[in-house]
Amino acid sequence: MFTPTALPEAARKPDLYASLAQQLTGLLQGEPDAIANAANMSALLSDLLPDLNWAGFYFMRGSELVLGPFQGKVACVRIPVGRGVCGTAVEQRASVVVPDVHAFPGHIACDSASRSELVVPLIRDGKVLGVLDLDSPRPGRFDEDDRAGCERLVRIYLEASDLSEGFGRF
Ligand code: SME
Repeated sequence: MFTPTALPEAARKPDLYASLAQQLTGLLQGEPDAIANAANMSALLSDLLPDLNWAGFYFMRGSELVLGPFQGKVACVRIPVGRGVCGTAVEQRASVVVPDVHAFPGHIACDSASRSELVVPLIRDGKVLGVLDLDSPRPGRFDEDDRAGCERLVRIYLEASDLSEGFGRF
């Protein structure tokens, strides 16, 4: 059975993400199920990334994002493309770092404790299949190291997982 290994709290972010990338690769190895992998990845990130109150996935279903596996409080189920931080990341086909969610026009508040947010789109062959969404109760929690680190983790997820059927595209 896989046992997540935490790094010391003082670990540098690049070292933390290198460790997470290694652990995620092992965790997803040999398992193509996109939902199972999203569930385990959410649990791993929630366990090992400090200061998160929500970590999870939305997948494109038809023309909108629909809630996938996550760790955290109950969340809104459907997000149209272009709405909120998640829908903005889909529309822009790029990660979005929001240091202060109260200053982001159209932010969708699922958990009132959330103060900052990072959304990374799942992009394969130029099409968005969904997003990874991380929320923190700490303003300014996410920086460029987090963006680059989470984009690397999303690539590992996409390489391992079969998203060829049942998922929408944008
Ligand atoms: N805050 C997101 C909605 C999803 S929840 O944070 C889990 C947004 O603005 O798109």
